[in-house]
Amino acid sequence: MRILALETSCDDTACAIVEDGRRVLASVVKSQDSVHAPFGGVIPELAARNHIQWVNPCVAEALASAKLELSEIDAFAATLGPGLVGSLLVGAGTAKALSFLTGRPFIGVNHLTAHICSNFLESDLEPPFLCLLVSGGHTQLVKVNALDDIEIVGQTLDDAVGEAYDKVARLLDAGFPGGPAVDKLAQQGDPNAYSLPIAVTKHPYDFSFSGLKTAVMRLIERETVACAGDPSALALMRGNVAASFQATVVRTLFLKTQRLMQESGFQTLSIAGGVSANTALRAVFQEWITRCPGIRLFVPHLGYCTDNAAMVGSSAFFNPLTHDAKTEVFSRKLVI
Ligand code: KG4
Ligand code: ZN
Repeated sequence: MRILALETSCDDTACAIVEDGRRVLASVVKSQDSVHAPFGGVIPELAARNHIQWVNPCVAEALASAKLELSEIDAFAATLGPGLVGSLLVGAGTAKALSFLTGRPFIGVNHLTAHICSNFLESDLEPPFLCLLVSGGHTQLVKVNALDDIEIVGQTLDDAVGEAYDKVARLLDAGFPGGPAVDKLAQQGDPNAYSLPIAVTKHPYDFSFSGLKTAVMRLIERETVACAGDPSALALMRGNVAASFQATVVRTLFLKTQRLMQESGFQTLSIAGGVSANTALRAVFQEWITRCPGIRLFVPHLGYCTDNAAMVGSSAFFNPLTHDAKTEVFSRKLVI
């Protein structure tokens, strides 16, 4: 089954064609980074307007790249939420129009389930598995017991990891988007330069990153004064802060995930969401499984970590949202 999928929940316009939930025949992502960079964050109205401009060229490019005609597509899918409403409407409206035009079904998809499904792409992953879902808006530990039985066991009480990265990037004036910029800056710094707090949560699998972000803010204020305007001292300090922040985040994610793996007895772990592209996060988990015979680790290909439509095509195949045609209401079959 070939599904043409659209992802427009935030600021990336993406179209992909995926066969049987795993094989990516085409994946096109048009980044709007240059549009939003001058503002240091995503402007919803601009995102929606740029989706309108890019969505049809993305569909055309995906079909051309897969060497397929519209008539060879079996179903059309789009992310229905969570996300920016104006942006979501562009993808959903386009996929529904294509469905109406061709007489083929429309399938709605949940964005978080789609991130989880990014690990099905070009892989042999099967439930049950645990997923550490780390994106710009969410941080969750999820048990995927079966394709239609997904259970959230822990989540952030305040900031998401990606959000913390974006805020720290602004404090460090590291660039936009913040996550990759801090990741790069961290590679020039010493992860042990500063000791930063790991929040203790009442529930062991929940997360909290707002205290860490505040601690980083205070640290930068203090160290900037100590650098007394010396450019090389300031550059060294920025690298060290980025590396220490990153080491604290990765350690928090690792400790909680490792504990849940041990306590739940799951043998397979996957990591998904934009932050799964992070160099240190991938390295720590990849090193850990070399010491854990029998445990399998799945991380998405770098192109499927941040928002993309291939994961939507996979989710449409494995985890479609149920649809009441009479009321046009989509409900969640899943717990997410
Ligand atoms: O999944 P995603 O593309 O969008 C949401 O669903 O939110 O995740 C975007 C988030 C942003 O906060 C971005 O800064 C972060 O993922 N991110 C990273 C890296 N690449 C993207 N964070 C840390 N290191 C990275 N290499
Ligand atoms: Zn996302």
